[in-house]
Amino acid sequence: MALIILVGAILAWFLSAPRPMTQAMVPAHQPDLANGALMYNIGGCISCHKPAADAAGMDPAIPSGGFPLKTPVGTFYPPNLTPDPETGLGQWSDLDFLNAMMRGLSPSGAHAIPAFPYTSYAHMRPADILDIKAHLMSLAPVVSPNKPADIPLPFLLRRGIGLWQWIGLDTTPWKPDPTQSESWNRGSYLVNGPGHCGECHTPRTFYLASDMSRFLMGGPHPEGEGRVPSLRDLIGRGRYTDVNDLASALQYGEIMGYDKLSSGGMRAVQANISKLPEPDIKAIAEYLASLK
Ligand code: HEC
Ligand code: HEC
Repeated sequence: MALIILVGAILAWFLSAPRPMTQAMVPAHQPDLANGALMYNIGGCISCHKPAADAAGMDPAIPSGGFPLKTPVGTFYPPNLTPDPETGLGQWSDLDFLNAMMRGLSPSGAHAIPAFPYTSYAHMRPADILDIKAHLMSLAPVVSPNKPADIPLPFLLRRGIGLWQWIGLDTTPWKPDPTQSESWNRGSYLVNGPGHCGECHTPRTFYLASDMSRFLMGGPHPEGEGRVPSLRDLIGRGRYTDVNDLASALQYGEIMGYDKLSSGGMRAVQANISKLPEPDIKAIAEYLASLK
């Protein structure tokens, strides 16, 4: 019995080890700041990386971190994303940033909890992620030390996440569907990659990975506030009259009389979508409207 437990523990130790990306996977890339700002907006970074509401002198539009994010395992304080070299990302290499965004690994090799939606960002194009980094590096540095998470047994939890990543983290790159239009494919990329819509709108399996057989069919809210509605057949079910109606709902939200776009984090998501160029909002609507 002791031998079985020992072998099991050794196996778990190896399977939970970090599997980082390598330098060879970092593309040669000329940063595009406009694309970086766009990807940052649809990525919703500010929603989680904003300063705490009571942080004196902090600009809520700058991702200096510290706003408490409650999760089932405890409270996390998403870190400072500004270029401050000591408390922010100033000293991070491109590879460090790709590993955080696409593998959920910090430069020290620690596993990040999947409340940070790297599970979706993992499908993005590495070049778009490097553009987000360039955008972040263009912000004014803010000194804002990271606050450790209020979680029990941090070491074991983080190592355990490595085991979860081994089964639950799908790193397949997003691929276009050649039978669909260019804007449908744009919408598909924005929804499935940076937009991470499925993190809330797709229910989870018993081991808490997204259940792709029920893709975007709605589920319980991760913060436990009511239910997240299905995004399938939105027009057939009469939620919106047509693609343009759905696009204006995404663009203007509840101020234009639409409902079901405010609670459970959706208000912040809608505010982020509203910052996109109109053709991108249309592309998201076109893609969603095609899901029966
Ligand atoms: C839903 C909330 C949420 C969103 C949206 C989000 N993050 Fe985070 N992020 C987190 C949390 C929580 C952590 C801390 C995870 C941990 O400590 O395990 C984190 C950590 C990070 C880290 C550090 C990772 C590490 O291992 O040190 C980086 C870099 C980061 N996020 C960048 C981003 C960027 C860029 C975006 C937007 C494209 C973004 N995040 C969007 C919640 C979020
Ligand atoms: C943080 C979790 C979360 C994320 C991420 C999220 N949503 Fe939502 N969404 C919700 C919740 C909760 C509601 C219901 C809000 C309400 O009833 O006030 C909602 C509602 C909606 C609705 C209205 C549905 C209806 O029946 O009219 C649409 C459309 C929508 N979301 C699209 C998106 C898109 C597109 C994305 C990705 C860019 C996205 N959501 C990402 C939580 C989320």
